[in-house]
Formats: sequence, C-alpha cells, structure tokens
Amino acid sequence: MSTSEAALRFSVAPMMEWTDRHCRYFHRLMTKRAALFTEMVTAPAIIHGDRARLLGFDAAEHPVVCQLGGSDPAQLAEAAGIVADFGYDRIDLNCGCPSDRVRSGRFGASLMEEPDLVADCVAAMRGAVALPISVKCRIGIDDAEPREMLPVFLEKVVAAGVASLTIHARKAWLQGLSPRENRTVPPLDYDIVFDMKRRWPTMPIAINGGIADIDQSVALLEPREGVALDGVMLGRAAYETPAILGQVDRRIFGEAVEDVDPFAVVEAMEPYIARHLEEPGAKLNQVVRHMLGLFTGRPGARSWRRILTVKSISPDAGLEVLREALDAVRRPSSAERTSADRASA
Ligand SMILES: Cc1cc2nc3c(=O)[nH]c(=O)nc-3n(C[C@H](O)[C@H](O)[C@H](O)COP(=O)(O)O)c2cc1C
Repeated sequence: MSTSEAALRFSVAPMMEWTDRHCRYFHRLMTKRAALFTEMVTAPAIIHGDRARLLGFDAAEHPVVCQLGGSDPAQLAEAAGIVADFGYDRIDLNCGCPSDRVRSGRFGASLMEEPDLVADCVAAMRGAVALPISVKCRIGIDDAEPREMLPVFLEKVVAAGVASLTIHARKAWLQGLSPRENRTVPPLDYDIVFDMKRRWPTMPIAINGGIADIDQSVALLEPREGVALDGVMLGRAAYETPAILGQVDRRIFGEAVEDVDPFAVVEAMEPYIARHLEEPGAKLNQVVRHMLGLFTGRPGARSWRRILTVKSISPDAGLEVLREALDAVRRPSSAERTSADRASA
C-alpha cells in the first residue's frame, strides 16, 4: 500500500480559504500520517494561472492531496500533469461542491448527474499521470433519491479506475441553499456510505460529514454488520479544534507515540513563520489565522484568539505577537480560569 492509500484512513478535508499551505504545514505538525488536502484548485486556473502560488507546498506536508475542480477531461489531464510535476501524492476530483460559481462551470456536485463525464475525467487523468486519482462526492443532489443516484454514479466512477472515494454523507441542494447551509441543512446519512462499501468491498471508501472528534472517527472505523470503512475525513472539526489532530497518529493509525502537545506545536511553528515573514508582502496573520482554535476549551483560549486576531494584522507584526498570545495561555487570568472551568463543568 502506498503512503497516500494508507493515509486515506484519516484526512483533513479540502476547504477553500482554509486549507492553504500554511494551514497544512500547521496541521502536519500534529499528525505525520493523515492525508492533507489542498483547497480546490480549478483546472483552468492551473493551466493559465500562477502555478507556484496555486500549487506550491512544503515538503513537510506529504502525504498531500491536490483537489481539482473541472469537468473537461483534456483540461483535467493537462492540469493533472502539472500537479504531478509539483510532487503531490494523489489527485482528487471535486464532485461535491455546491456553490453557484462552481455549478455554472459544470463542476462540483452538479457532476453527480453526469457519471459518464466524470468517468471520462478520471480516465483522462489516469492516462496522463501515474498518481492515484480519487473522487469526493455527495450522496446525491437536489430531489434525486440518493439510493438511486449514488450507486449509478459510483458504478461508472469505479469502472473508470478511481483509486479511492470520499463520500460526504449528505445531499447538496444546488438551488436555494448557500454553500454553508449545504453543510448543515441536508440530513446526514452514514448508513448509505456503509451500504456502498458493502457493494464495492474492495474499493477504498472514506466517510465525511459532521464528524466531531477522534472518538467519533474511531467509532466510524469500527465494522458495522461486517462492513468496515477505510477512512474518515474531518473538515470543520479539524480546522476549528486542530488540537484533536494530535491524537490521530496514536488513535487512528495505532502508532506507539505520545499525543502532540499544542504548546510544542506553537514553538515548532516559529521557524516556519519566521521564514514566511521574510517573503515580500508576507503578513503574520496569513499563517496564524489557522491557529486560532488551537487552545479551544483551555483557560486562556479566548485571549490567545483575541491577541492573534487583533495584533497579527498589523503589517509589521512578528513573532512577538505569537509569544504574547502563547503567554496568555500559559498564564491565563483568574477570570479565564474560572470561565474555562465553568465551560468544562
Ligand atoms: C470553508 C469550507 C470550504 C470548503 N471547501 C471545499 C472544497 O474546496 N472542496 C470540497 O470538496 N469540499 C469543500 N468543503 C466541504 C468539506 O470538504 C467537507 O466535505 C464538509 O465541510 C463536511 O465535512 P465536516 O462536517 O467534517 O466539515 C468546504 C467546507 C468548508 C467549511
């Protein structure tokens, strides 16, 4: 099994504006094993745009998956070649994003209505690169019945040679709901994902949607009626409470390691941030905005968040802001200690 296939067991989801390279570097300090996804990048952007900015990443981020958006097989094949040259471990095709902009370009979740086209896209990318190609999809869209739409979609995609699938276990409504509402309003249906695994037992399948923490991840990886999923993918929980990633290598991958201490993570970010700040136009907040949730639930978390939010936007903000914020968690005020006690009571 390649590193990227093994990493399917736990992934941090692709999230636009969130899982940029700084975020991934930060997450990687807490788990060596999880697959880290990029934000979705469209094939035309890669072909015509600033490739270094769109695709550049740090070697420490491996295993890292580049998520592509698009629906033109030739364009996707060309973009896949470029992605492969950058050294990514896997390419994922977005068939789950519901936003209007994406729908007008005929990609994202609207592709669930076009399984033949998705199969052509997968085949074209497979023809262009040796990397594994995966697909992330919903269980259905609009008023289609998921138990009818999803198997028809998967049949074609599996036949086209996809290496693995991640199923976001809720429908997308392409009209009438915002992308944000599309992540909360349509109900979750985990059972259908287990049913798909029963139907395609040799196809690696990961489940996504509403997974709150590592306890729930572990529970979803347990077999149900003889069927076990191959992985879980966490989006918002991983981003908003990133310290949970510090348990992943031990609890999900079974490694004999200690959980990662969030204080050590901040210290380990310092050299990375110092390097970033030397780049022209770089700002502290471009990196630390991803770290705001690191101490959630601990005394001092509120000051950590406030100091970073307020002080990191100034153009000359440097590591002293990070150290000041860390100090607020190391030595929380008595008011914060009491309110954290109340919150955890
Ligand atoms: C801010 C944000 C941006 C997202 N961007 C993408 C994206 O680029 N590609 C994608 O496939 N899904 C995207 N998603 C959906 C997530 O990958 C994931 O499927 C969804 O949030 C459900 O998982 P969760 O409940 O663990 O957050 C995004 C979600 C959020 C919150």
